[in-house]
Amino acid sequence: MGGPHISEEMQELFTLFRHKRRTEPVGLDEETGRWRVFRFADAMTVATDAHSFSNDLSEFIPYHEDLATFSKGNFQNMDQPRHRELRGLVSQGFTPRFVTGLAPRIEAVAAELLDTIGDRERIDLVADLAHPLPVTVIAEVMGLPVSDRGLFRKWADALLVDNGIDAIFSEEGVAAMAPSIREMNAYLLNHVREYRTSKREGLIADLIAAETDGVTLDDQEIVGFLALLLIAGHLTTSTLLGNAILCLDENPEAARQLREDPALIPAMIEEVLRYRSPLVWLDRKALRTVHLGGVDIPEGSQVSVALPSVTRDESEFENPDTFDIHRDPIRHLSFGMGVHFCLGAPLARLEVKIALRALLSRYRDFEVPAGERLVYHDPRGFQGAKVLPLDLFR
Ligand code: HEM
Repeated sequence: MGGPHISEEMQELFTLFRHKRRTEPVGLDEETGRWRVFRFADAMTVATDAHSFSNDLSEFIPYHEDLATFSKGNFQNMDQPRHRELRGLVSQGFTPRFVTGLAPRIEAVAAELLDTIGDRERIDLVADLAHPLPVTVIAEVMGLPVSDRGLFRKWADALLVDNGIDAIFSEEGVAAMAPSIREMNAYLLNHVREYRTSKREGLIADLIAAETDGVTLDDQEIVGFLALLLIAGHLTTSTLLGNAILCLDENPEAARQLREDPALIPAMIEEVLRYRSPLVWLDRKALRTVHLGGVDIPEGSQVSVALPSVTRDESEFENPDTFDIHRDPIRHLSFGMGVHFCLGAPLARLEVKIALRALLSRYRDFEVPAGERLVYHDPRGFQGAKVLPLDLFR
């Protein structure tokens, strides 16, 4: 039992964020040239005012042919009307009903992973459960061989972790990612083509069949969307599950209440999202000069919302630094807000709920061993643990 389970670097960021909220809630970061936003209300404006803030960051990303091809179906980077068109098409395959229907399979995968742990008393929660669970589920959803999950991890790491989260904004970074992008593109394209000819069923088949007013998705657009799912869908979710465990370890009373009443799990997950957002930054481009937080952000600027800051904003939240699963309502921006709200949020919530329920029911207790060093993500990208030792008590 213990904590706080937070890296020194992240702790420093929280100190900086607190200071910035008071003294410079919106300000230019000289080092990166980005405008940073630290308060909740301003962040809501940035996330939801699509007339002033664009998701198309291509201007800040060095051109690379492989990346351009690969990004074709990635509607997270697009504005209206194309975003609505593509998201509308893929939503036909990725419906809330479809996600709810996955519950029995997610339960089975979680049970298999915990069975594999067997009698071991110490596990790495990330390697043994938090990572393989969402990767296996997303691979199954996409109809890809689960045995290829090592490749998916490798690609996600190459794009988000190995070269730093900001790699995409530099020539060297893009060049370092290019081989993985090419590999992933070819792999996914093969699968999509195979689906076109084999008439198999599943999400890829639904995407091939999706149509609105005569508009359909071509193979490269489907590949771009699948890549978005593969990349967006697992590192975030595994970090969230890890963060939930860290919060429970720090708050034994909350853990006791969850054991007593598992119906509290969904509220607890929302509080984890508020208290420890897995993603650190949410980026936009200013489409015009925008007056925000008392300053003018010039047209064309890159604007970055500090997610872990905005949900600790003392002008919005009572006792923001207290982890409290009974807040009502629990608000956050960790899945974004507005038209780009995370498409995978229902799946992420379901996976983490099922995993927590399985852990709480199978083990009398679990705790992060004292004196064991956790390995944390680079706080410029993710907030949470990459390696999370956990002792299990049966
Ligand atoms: C968008 C976070 C899990 C797929 C987003 C956005 C955030 C986010 C902040 C908004 C981006 C923006 O406004 O520009 C998270 C977190 C997750 C998670 C914290 C887990 C805890 C997932 C999963 C999937 C997924 C499991 C899919 C299986 C997507 C997609 C978008 C998106 C497709 C783009 C939506 C759009 O632009 O319309 N996510 N995500 N995410 N997420 Fe997630």
